[in-house]
Amino acid sequence: MSTVVLIGAQWGDEGKGKITDFLAEKADVVVRYQGGNNAGHTVVADGKEFKLHLIPSGILYPGKLCLIGNGVVIDPAVLIAELENLAAQKISTENLRISPRAHVIFPYHQRLDRCEEERKGARKIGTTCRGIGPAYMDKAARAGIRVADLIDPEEFPARLEDALQEKNRLLNQVYGAEGFAYAEILAAYGKYAEIIKPYVADVSIIVNEAIARGQNVLCEGAQGTLLDLDHGTYPYVTSSHPVAGAACLGAGFGPTKINRVVGVAKAYITRVGEGPFPTELKDALGDHIRTRGHEFGTTTGRPRRCGWFDGVVARYATRINGLDCLAVTKLDVLSGLEKVKVCTAYRYRGELITEFPATLKVLAECEPVYEEFPGWAEDISNIRRYEDLPANAKNYLARLAELARTPVALISVGPSREQTIVTQNVF
Ligand code: GDP
Ligand code: IMO
Ligand code: MG
Repeated sequence: MSTVVLIGAQWGDEGKGKITDFLAEKADVVVRYQGGNNAGHTVVADGKEFKLHLIPSGILYPGKLCLIGNGVVIDPAVLIAELENLAAQKISTENLRISPRAHVIFPYHQRLDRCEEERKGARKIGTTCRGIGPAYMDKAARAGIRVADLIDPEEFPARLEDALQEKNRLLNQVYGAEGFAYAEILAAYGKYAEIIKPYVADVSIIVNEAIARGQNVLCEGAQGTLLDLDHGTYPYVTSSHPVAGAACLGAGFGPTKINRVVGVAKAYITRVGEGPFPTELKDALGDHIRTRGHEFGTTTGRPRRCGWFDGVVARYATRINGLDCLAVTKLDVLSGLEKVKVCTAYRYRGELITEFPATLKVLAECEPVYEEFPGWAEDISNIRRYEDLPANAKNYLARLAELARTPVALISVGPSREQTIVTQNVF
């Protein structure tokens, strides 16, 4: 019985939703611990596609407790739309619990996100414009409104009034943008509070009790290691901590309780938004991978930038997260390529670099050093046993594991639950 933390080992969209759903079968509790509805986790179960932004990807298995931890920022309108959408598809959400300590996203956060992107112009981050950064800014500034405040009719009006006064001033006077009417937000959020209230419970207590009972707890990361506020490609990052260590903070349990950390990585790599990307393919091959892999954002629909697997990034993710193993996804997308490449190191001004650099200035000048492998022509999407994979695909995977310095435990060969090869048990 164990606590497993599942994280994105690249720039997000690695297939965390699919792998969480797959592992959820053996989990008792699934918890989201950071990020917000900037995340888009696609799960394909029983032939149906579900796009989840806030609700943990364990929700599709009946009977699993699904938790939204204190580290998540919640847009109530999005959460409620997701609840309604699941209900329409006959998926029960009665096992969902939401931390009263989670912070709430308001319309002014979204507008501020947009205004700040516009102000930055060419230097924009390429955020999802969902208000994530401004909501975490308020949290750090000790000016945020939490779920506990939202559902407390004695607290909420005054808190909102106070926040709105400052935000309207900021919007009007700094950005020259329109502000918001107090009464409108108060009314809308009052309705949201009624819907959300029954789900609110102390997530930290639930997680710790589950661990004490010897149950399996699965922590579902959002975004990825290179989008981490501290360890990512700053400033082209998100405003939370997608790395494994943050699971403790964002769900409310201690580091001694983590038994295993799984890094999800695509067999290649993608990125949405701006920022340097050493192995990016800006040619027809990049277009081919984008088309074959349906690499368009789940949240914003933006085309994802595609490139070869980056071994420097993988090794970095292993170090920062203490990865025990990898789940390699979308291996099927590479089928049919005559040759596949992996980046083993970078060359920077003639020097060989094997560790991920701290600054964008260096990263932007890094040239990938590639190793080339023969590809495989076979369609592998129906393969369920490692032994049955083409020899060239197995060689490729072995090299990825070597470069990442961690074994491959799961191989995903298609979007649906069944299209998963297990080489090591995670739970
Ligand atoms: P997440 O944000 O990490 O959960 O990833 P996304 O859901 O944003 O993006 C991953 C996309 O790839 C989704 O559309 C998945 O349905 C799909 N997907 C996941 N694993 C595989 C796989 O092994 N093969 C293929 N072809 N698609 C996959
Ligand atoms: P999942 O969980 C990929 C990116 C944005 C932008 C940067 C900052 O689906 O893997 P933000 O709105 O968070 O302030 O944007 O982070 N980004 C993601 N990229 N997958 C995600 O989530 C992402 N969430 C944010 O594109 O570059
Ligand atoms: Mg995604």
